[in-house]
Amino acid sequence: MVRAHISQSRSRVWFAASLAVLLCGCGDILTETPPVGDDFESPFDGLSFSFNASFLRGDENFERVFRVEDGLGPIFNNNACGSCHPGDGRATSDEVFLRISRGHDLAEDVGGPQLQTRAIPGVPAEVLPPGVDASPRMAPPVFGVGLIEAIPVETILAHADEADADGDGISGRPNWVESPDFIPSHEIGGGPGMQLGRFGRKASVSTLLLQVTAAYHQDMGITSDFMPVENPNPQHGRTAIGDTVADPEIPASTVLDTTMYVRLLSPPARGPSTVETTRGEVIFETIGCATCHVPVMTTGDSPVAQLRDVDAHLYSDMLLHDMGPELADNRPDGDASGTEWKTAPLWGTRLVADFTNGVAHYMHDGRTTDLGEAIDLHGGEAAAVRQRFGELPTADREALLAFVLSL
Ligand code: HEC
Ligand code: HEC
Repeated sequence: MVRAHISQSRSRVWFAASLAVLLCGCGDILTETPPVGDDFESPFDGLSFSFNASFLRGDENFERVFRVEDGLGPIFNNNACGSCHPGDGRATSDEVFLRISRGHDLAEDVGGPQLQTRAIPGVPAEVLPPGVDASPRMAPPVFGVGLIEAIPVETILAHADEADADGDGISGRPNWVESPDFIPSHEIGGGPGMQLGRFGRKASVSTLLLQVTAAYHQDMGITSDFMPVENPNPQHGRTAIGDTVADPEIPASTVLDTTMYVRLLSPPARGPSTVETTRGEVIFETIGCATCHVPVMTTGDSPVAQLRDVDAHLYSDMLLHDMGPELADNRPDGDASGTEWKTAPLWGTRLVADFTNGVAHYMHDGRTTDLGEAIDLHGGEAAAVRQRFGELPTADREALLAFVLSL
């Protein structure tokens, strides 16, 4: 957590350092000036006054460290959004939690759907029960989710090929999920009937608001107007004893501001193109990476001008793919099977390590810190593409990696 805090404060340190330079005129105390757009925590340019105000309130909410007297727990995984999403980016394999279930049963009687392995004083934390499917999850970055939310359903479905009609071995299918009644139907992905899942490692959540509400509730033990009842604790007679703060612990407006905050976080700018990255980009297309890591999708309508009709360079199709036994968690999630994962967006890859102590962790559980190995782990539908990657001459392989590290 200390580490996370340091990285979150980075831009503030830069700001303070720049201010010091301005005040004393001693320009050489800064070894490098951070280029604009080299972080994950900047809002889109030119937000209206009211969106900007909501962004600023949400920013404070995101950094807020919950204490016992604020309602933390009684059982929880961490104490701040920013503790798992340092600098609004991803976590490391040190900060992974387990989702559990028995097939499609969420195993709520034994602590599912998520295992809270920390607890406030006097309360036992949850322990992994026998006989459940457990899926380790590392936090993905939170920038760009507003653009992901604004991509029309038809645009995403146009990339699906469930029966592999084109015979390239790559199918890609949507995760259709239900939206709970407490999510207003005017939210994108809300309302009755099956909705397209977009968020989470298996795209099992259809609205950004549910993702954030559940983060408060499941990850930190913070109840809100949307989910006002604490998590039952099977180690404690399934009651929420220990937390004396009245529920709901935060109002709906707080959850809505935090949701607006992540919605308005801009993806970072692309790094500079070089001869090598340009060559790597061509290889990325020709060997088939781009079939799943779709370079760009255009958003549709949005109340936020900056999110409306713009190109989102996310490098994902937002669809599920069978990635083979090595990556499998054997735990279904919504419509997703135990071998399927949502194509991880690749935007911002060049900056990942800056917010995690210089080492980037890849894949849903952060199991590798080596980009080449991350690609070698691709199996299932991606097996043929992985093989083509393995057969590349060293220089081409390096060009491909350089391209991914320029995103
Ligand atoms: C204990 C660690 C932890 C905490 C605390 C946490 N998150 Fe997350 N977050 C995760 C993990 C892990 C996932 C992926 C979950 C999955 O695979 O379903 C995630 C996913 C997300 C996503 C979806 C991103 C995407 O593109 O799919 C958003 C948005 C998000 N979190 C926002 C928040 C907010 C806002 C808070 C605070 C209210 C928060 N998180 C607190 C671990 C955490
Ligand atoms: C069949 C679809 C598919 C193909 C083809 C594919 N990927 Fe992936 N890729 C995925 C999925 C799904 C994940 C997420 C796996 C996980 O989280 O365990 C992923 C994850 C990644 C990651 C890790 C991202 C992160 O944030 O942790 C990288 C890097 C990556 N892919 C690059 C590539 C490259 C380069 C190629 C071409 C050689 C490629 N992929 C081909 C589907 C695909």
